[in-house]
Amino acid sequence: MKTWKSLSPISRGRSSFSADARHTVPGARWRLALCLVVAGLASCFLAAPGRGAEGESVRERLLLDWGWKFHLGNEWGTGEDLAKAGSSAGPARRDFNDAGWRSVDLPHDWAIELPFDRSADMSHGFKPVGPGFATNSVGWYRRSFTLPQQDADKRLWLEFDGAFRDSRVYVNGYFIGHHESGYSGFRYDITDVANCGGKNTVAVRVDATQFEGWFYEGAGIYRHVWLTKTGRLAVAPDGTFVYSTFTGATPEGPAELHVETRLDNSIQAAADCTVRCQVLDGAGKVVAEGNSSARLGAFSQSRVRQSIELDSPALWSPETPTLYRLVTAVESGGAVVDRTETEFGVRTVRFDADKGFLLNGKPYVLKGTCNHQDHAGVGAALPDRLQYFRIARLKEMGDNAYRTSHNPPTPELLEACDRLGMLVMDENRLLGSDALNLDRLERLVRRDRNHPSVAVWSIANEEGEQTTPAGGRVAETMQRLIHGLDPTRQVTEAANVGNTFAGLNRIIDVRGWNYNIGRGVDDYHAAHPRQPNAGTEQASTVCTRGIYANDRQAGYVSAYDDNAPPWAHKAETWWKFFAARPWLSGGFAWTGFDYRGEPTPYGWPCINSHFGILDTCGFPKDNFYYYQAWWGHRPMAHLLPHWTWPGKEGQEIDVRCFSNCEEIELLLNGQSFGRQPMPRNSHLAWKIKYAPGTLSAKGYNAGQAVAEDKVETTGPAAAIKLSPDRPALKADGEDLSMVTVAVTDAQGRVVPTAGSLVEFELSGPGRILGVGNGDPSCHEADMFVSKPGTRSVSLDRWRVKEVADAKDRPEAAKEFSTRNWRRVDVRADLGPLTPGQCAVFRTHYTAESQDLSATNIVLSFGMIDDEGWVYVNGRLAGESHDWSASPAFAIGKFLESGDNTIAVVVKNNEGEGGINKGVTLLLEERPVAASWKRSVFNGLAQVIVQSAKEAGELKLTARAEGLTPATLTLSSAACAARPAVP
Ligand code: GAL
Repeated sequence: MKTWKSLSPISRGRSSFSADARHTVPGARWRLALCLVVAGLASCFLAAPGRGAEGESVRERLLLDWGWKFHLGNEWGTGEDLAKAGSSAGPARRDFNDAGWRSVDLPHDWAIELPFDRSADMSHGFKPVGPGFATNSVGWYRRSFTLPQQDADKRLWLEFDGAFRDSRVYVNGYFIGHHESGYSGFRYDITDVANCGGKNTVAVRVDATQFEGWFYEGAGIYRHVWLTKTGRLAVAPDGTFVYSTFTGATPEGPAELHVETRLDNSIQAAADCTVRCQVLDGAGKVVAEGNSSARLGAFSQSRVRQSIELDSPALWSPETPTLYRLVTAVESGGAVVDRTETEFGVRTVRFDADKGFLLNGKPYVLKGTCNHQDHAGVGAALPDRLQYFRIARLKEMGDNAYRTSHNPPTPELLEACDRLGMLVMDENRLLGSDALNLDRLERLVRRDRNHPSVAVWSIANEEGEQTTPAGGRVAETMQRLIHGLDPTRQVTEAANVGNTFAGLNRIIDVRGWNYNIGRGVDDYHAAHPRQPNAGTEQASTVCTRGIYANDRQAGYVSAYDDNAPPWAHKAETWWKFFAARPWLSGGFAWTGFDYRGEPTPYGWPCINSHFGILDTCGFPKDNFYYYQAWWGHRPMAHLLPHWTWPGKEGQEIDVRCFSNCEEIELLLNGQSFGRQPMPRNSHLAWKIKYAPGTLSAKGYNAGQAVAEDKVETTGPAAAIKLSPDRPALKADGEDLSMVTVAVTDAQGRVVPTAGSLVEFELSGPGRILGVGNGDPSCHEADMFVSKPGTRSVSLDRWRVKEVADAKDRPEAAKEFSTRNWRRVDVRADLGPLTPGQCAVFRTHYTAESQDLSATNIVLSFGMIDDEGWVYVNGRLAGESHDWSASPAFAIGKFLESGDNTIAVVVKNNEGEGGINKGVTLLLEERPVAASWKRSVFNGLAQVIVQSAKEAGELKLTARAEGLTPATLTLSSAACAARPAVP
């Protein structure tokens, strides 16, 4: 065997640079300050290579989500080769044959595809992944693409928003990096190992054997992957930081924008450049700008600081989520060598010990929810549109704050919060001041600090060490790091201890309160009057949508706000306490949406939590309306339960109303039960004798009817109704329509007890991504995977015998005894033969009739080193004379039903030789499209439809026994898809 062409590495060094400020811009007042450090400048200046033509920057950010190959299984170890660079093993090799692997697009969560298993971890939702499920816990992803020759001048980054978890990444056989946490983003500079002008292969091994949390976490590359190309002189990754300050304590008058730009020069020469910053408003108008000159030494990084004044800024808030864009252009040698855009908002945030949380200088009560990244149908792999859907649902409830419990979010969630208006408590995963944890924390802050939605950092949740001196010291180090990176925000920890001023609580900026309410909270505040407070995690009320009696066997909890575990509180209890104490800043209810895992209070058959105010699909439970009444801004009324109780005629039903109106009048079939005043932050309740018909609640303010809700007795289930959240999609391959499937009576009213099994079919340019129904005990599949077109069988049991030469070997016949032959592992990197040696390798394969019906059968070798003659049942199927190729032979016509002999005569010319790197039989079959179905739960289910990149009309048809079917037409319009790796 020969060695591969070696790629010349580019050395990297570090030095600082000097720069000075000049230039003013008409129409905008600005000041400029630069942080200058001079050391070791290279004496010559060369224009930066990689510049774009006509002022365009070379920067490209390409989505690398489409067209991956995936294999679930741990047959190859980690793939790392510690002996030689670039020669990784198994799927990490550049020439590994992945033709038999399944095709997947990202984001992808393989855990969601697995069936429920009662023996699996309950807190992770009974999915057979993790400790004890070795075969389901390791997955490999591969993706090949071509890079143009021009990219040789560029800097190339492979960026992962997150992979769960313990990922190892290989590019062209080179080990590129190992990242353990499943929640923090990571990126690798692949410039050195990239093959510009040819094929490149990325292989990612993801190992979800270990848990990081106590909730469903998914498995796989469940967030986006990007390929970013820049010039060799460019803004560094996450290299822009923009924040605003005002002269006074309140945001009045002009804002001072502080802009920091970290530049990265990877040229072997010093570089002069100008950093031009423009601030654009929502209409794209330049409203402020500033320029700075800078000089960077060869292979150096440095930071430019600018201060730009912005007159009369429109302030960001959840109610007015006004965004600006900072456009940073780096010019060098007369060309724009880089250009980045950073969305930001102008606003101030502060937690005050007396007034609670202050947004733009004014008290602003946090009406928040905690959430995991998990949704029906897709598990942890949420397309971006789903983030927007979920944030919009929460906003409908009056929610203005979101806690990313208990881990860094995906960046697109923060984009949705910036754009739709939602404050965020951005949470770190693990408490720790070791290098690894501090590095993760730093990545989080650098990545997220431009988002106006982010109001506070949380370093930990309910850590066992929260009250120890060591815990306090660790937290102090973390808090110091955050303060150094972000002078604008405070730090909190979600603490579940009561009146305890020790460990973390002693040092933390904002005292967090998980669950503890009552005297201890007041006493703590009295004893530490200068420390701000926030309700970091509250409620944990348990409810099932549409269920009005607890049912242990079915695993359902009543949707009346009556049940909370011992450590938790009903919605009404916690919110009354917080609403009465403005210094507590408001808080975050556990949780906005149900999530998989942590079924409480019952275990199996429950597979998901009941804590959500909305279920896993985002269908509201009744408590949604409690919060809407007291968090929202419009007069409303909501009645519960539903009014379809056949057999209960004459029996008393517990009727309740959530409303923010001054008075409520309840009526049954037109007969009034009188008006009652609505107690603040509470509800009204009646015992009403059931009679079929209409129960209604009218809400009055100042004597005027301003809101009404009614529940009606429905007839039997008669039809299916499909309602999309949006009927028009963008044909970008990412957009979604969230379709509600309702089973209705003949009059089109949702039957609140219906449970029909509905089958779905989609035609047109798109696909069904997932289905769900919000039933916490439903074990039906969320995802139906098409039967792959190709099956692969690994042929591992071989014997070998050295022979004198490679000509006409009798050992290649169908029948030949191998009794004294040696066993050989053909998966190794190097073969057993010495220079000049020949040998015959033999194995057997038993073909089932199903195998023989395959449309194509390919015998694929990792490597035959140096030359080989392949025989199937004694007949020559092909030859290979290139040791570096991965030869493959179509052998369908030689295979017989039952036993088959495969023999390979190998001639090794030099180095070590033989059959190496595995042998696989690929059976290509006609793919079978998945058929989709899901039962409705209490009348409702959800189908997530995703557009393809082609425009056209999509038709979703739903059928169920005994019901009139429904067809929904969605349009998908041509649009520019996001730039992606072809
Ligand atoms: C909290 C914890 C959450 C969740 C919740 C359930 O203590 O922070 O992650 O487990 O309990 O009530």
